[in-house]
Amino acid sequence: MRDVTLTEIFNQHIAQKFLNRSGLSHAIAVAYHAFHLAKEQNVDTDIAAKAGFLHDIGHYTWYKNGKWDYELYRKNDIHPIKGAERAHKLLIRLGENPVKAKTIALAILFHTDSFLPSNDIVRTPLQQIVKWADEKDEEEGGMHHYRTIDSIRAINSLKRLDEMIDKELEKDSK
Ligand SMILES: [Fe+2]
Repeated sequence: MRDVTLTEIFNQHIAQKFLNRSGLSHAIAVAYHAFHLAKEQNVDTDIAAKAGFLHDIGHYTWYKNGKWDYELYRKNDIHPIKGAERAHKLLIRLGENPVKAKTIALAILFHTDSFLPSNDIVRTPLQQIVKWADEKDEEEGGMHHYRTIDSIRAINSLKRLDEMIDKELEKDSK
């Protein structure tokens, strides 16, 4: 039995605010990719799916005169740091296991090299999975952040993924 499900995360107002900002459809797609990669590689599917789902919640909107300013974004972005912190706070508040919350936060912190001074960090299998899952859903020009999904479809996709995770955990405990 898990302490927190994806559906419970999604039901938090604050989670929805930040998930919508960076694209709910992208968040769900990355959660699914992370789940499948984790399953293939014998990594905890619950942790992988949660990290995938929340990986971009640290985004800030770098708009200038109504347009996204890539220069500002590149120079100032720290979304993996903010995301790790936001996800951790949210998960702990929901009652997540603290070790899991930390592992998820670290996977979010290292999901991209874009803000790091160098790109030579050695990732754990889980951290690598979340990075790959994100890259799998990337579209040119950042279009993956703008894909839309209606809330009924979103909630049904998350429920289905929750069931898939529960099934995996059940298998593991046998
Ligand atoms: Fe992403």
